Amino acid sequence: MADIARLADHVGQAVTVRGWVHHLRSSGKIRFLVVRDGTGLVQGVLVKGQLPDGDFQEFDRLTLESSLILEGLVRAEPRAPGGFELTVTRLEPLQIPQDYPIAPKEHGVGFLMDHRHLWLRSPRQQAILRVRDEVFRACRDFFHGQGFVLVDTPILTPTACEGTTSLFETDYLDRGKAYLSQSGQLYLEAAAMALGRVYCFGPTFRAEKSKTRRHLTEFWMVEAEAAFFTLEDIMGLAEGLVSYVVQEVLAHRGQELKILERDISPLEAAVPPFPRISYGEALARLNEGGQEMAWGEDFGGDEETLISQAFDRPVMVHRYPRQCKAFYMEADAANPELALCVDMLAPEGYGEIIGGSQRVADLEVLLTRLAEHRLPREPLEWYLDLRRYGSVPHSGFGLGIERLVAWLCGLKHVREAIPFPRLLDRLYP
Ligand code: 4AD
Ligand code: MG
Repeated sequence: MADIARLADHVGQAVTVRGWVHHLRSSGKIRFLVVRDGTGLVQGVLVKGQLPDGDFQEFDRLTLESSLILEGLVRAEPRAPGGFELTVTRLEPLQIPQDYPIAPKEHGVGFLMDHRHLWLRSPRQQAILRVRDEVFRACRDFFHGQGFVLVDTPILTPTACEGTTSLFETDYLDRGKAYLSQSGQLYLEAAAMALGRVYCFGPTFRAEKSKTRRHLTEFWMVEAEAAFFTLEDIMGLAEGLVSYVVQEVLAHRGQELKILERDISPLEAAVPPFPRISYGEALARLNEGGQEMAWGEDFGGDEETLISQAFDRPVMVHRYPRQCKAFYMEADAANPELALCVDMLAPEGYGEIIGGSQRVADLEVLLTRLAEHRLPREPLEWYLDLRRYGSVPHSGFGLGIERLVAWLCGLKHVREAIPFPRLLDRLYP
């Protein structure tokens, strides 16, 4: 048994390859088939007399996505996809599909999304999934290298973290309501008081009522939290993480980026230092550019695109008005109307990929905030304990994986950045 990606090790040898038919072609007395096995593509050549007659005839029954086993001799063939060819000596179909729904022609996105379970087999979708896998690996390596400990946070939770309007609610046995986690942050804060530097990496859920190219209802987030870190510290950490992941993807997924026809120059530019501007500066730039906006409002996708257009790499916008941000953000001592927070905006119109902040460390302040945001105190007593028992300044951020993958791959919509997207209007397949 040989992986197609490893055929270089088997030149001149007989191998067995198992996979699916990607392409079929006849030319005179010769038959060609391109087979995919998940590791790569190889062309098999069938010449009458070089394999049993019955096997040669089986070729005519094959259709796209037929599963099969091939035996053959490996030859170096620079013109073939992958650089090798198989002279087939045995062909054994496993299952032959009728009417594979995805033809090599243009399909609408709705159709492809309905057939997402099959669409994943296309070279483009495979390339995206491999980039995504690399992003996960690189994030873990980065945090491990920085001495962060992975701590898993719960998905079923008794409270909101990021506002009550996007909560998914479920019945929790006979204990009333539970909510699907919008962020692991609050639990990560507890873990940071135990382990110092921690991160979590998991699915998060938001009942987003908006249909945009940047919103999923289920998405993956990697979140970091560190005791004694200030806003400045996590800005440095966020910049280190994103530049590391980008460089790792460039180093190991060049082939995939080529399949995606991604212009890699904007990725190559994503090296530190990333520009840092305050919310005030960003707002002034918007108003100068004719995009009128009042102080105090959060930026939307359009504003983020305009702001990031001025830079060739991700930009960090810090110190937004507290009034448009979450309850847990520490106020800026220099101007208490501002939060010690940061959003990282990706270039090329991709917008916010990271949100983070320094957290309120004082118990009384936090109690006031809960009241202001009309959040119930009782289910958050444990969170208040963190301010009662050895409270310290601490900070963290969350990176949205699909937004990052969408930018890295140059995708039009985050729905292609996750294997099975969950959207306002999609729960199938
Ligand atoms: O800015 P957000 O809401 O921040 C938090 O959740 C913090 N509790 C994180 C922390 O400090 N530990 O979300 C963080 C990131 C966003 O910048 C965005 O990349 C992504 O999560 N995100 C989404 N991605 C896809 N679909 C959605 N509906 C998303 N909502 C947020
Ligand atoms: Mg945010």
